[in-house]
Amino acid sequence: MLEIKNLKVSVNNKIILNKFNLEIKNGQICALMGPNGVGKSTISKVILGDKNYKVLEGTIKYNNQEITKLPTDKRAKLGIFLAMQTPSTIEGVSNQDFLKTAMESTFEKHIGLYQFILECEKAVKELKMDPTLIQRNLNDGFSGGEKKKNEILQMKLLKPSLIILDEIDSGLDVDSMKTVFTNIKDYLEENPQTSLLIISHYPMIFEYLKPDTVNILSQGKIVKTSDYTLAQEIFKNGYNKYIKALNQEDKNE
Ligand SMILES: Nc1ncnc2c1ncn2[C@@H]1O[C@H](COP(=O)(O)OP(=O)(O)O)[C@@H](O)[C@H]1O
Ligand SMILES: [Mg+2]
Repeated sequence: MLEIKNLKVSVNNKIILNKFNLEIKNGQICALMGPNGVGKSTISKVILGDKNYKVLEGTIKYNNQEITKLPTDKRAKLGIFLAMQTPSTIEGVSNQDFLKTAMESTFEKHIGLYQFILECEKAVKELKMDPTLIQRNLNDGFSGGEKKKNEILQMKLLKPSLIILDEIDSGLDVDSMKTVFTNIKDYLEENPQTSLLIISHYPMIFEYLKPDTVNILSQGKIVKTSDYTLAQEIFKNGYNKYIKALNQEDKNE
């Protein structure tokens, strides 16, 4: 279970999150929504321990262990995985070497090349990816959709227990979306204790991965939590109601 309490986060001396609370139980799907620039990607990176983001107050616990100050690789070893909104390109490192090294580091054991290739080929096929992407440099010249599929390939190989999907649907065409969502859904069915945090603006992902809770982020904190009907309402009417309500509260304080 992930428990975030009273988190205050800054980047470049600007406070992005303040009094941020969120809980995701094992096996739960949690949606995080909110207008552009409110800090959705910030929280996803903070959960992974990105050093560009400073935690000024509050705690992050995963399975009752405080991880607020743990380095990123240790968090990955605990089973936390982030599919980034904009995955980075690494020149001079092949996708295959990156994936194998990431697996060996996460599982803390040597993985034979033959076993790796078998596993990787199976996952590549399930994701309907172009197999030549495995030999190329990581994300170098990959299309938007190819980068996103490659994130899910990492997910399938690293077998996380907490998955964060930051706008995984952006850049994917409709058919690729179906493939990606189906792969995630199958993964959750095979690993029912896995928790999922979905950051997205698109209704289609929630048809495949139906959230147990929907949370709206605005002005640094969660301002509304409800069930799936909240997402449906947002798709219909937008965020205005919740942001206005918050501005009003600020004035009354
Ligand atoms: N490295 C950074 N340097 C300066 N500002 C940043 C940095 N990262 C994020 N921000 C700012 O923090 C705010 C929240 O960004 P982000 O978390 O990416 O929003 P969202 O994902 O909700 O659209 C934005 O105003 C953004 O410009
Ligand atoms: Mg974002």
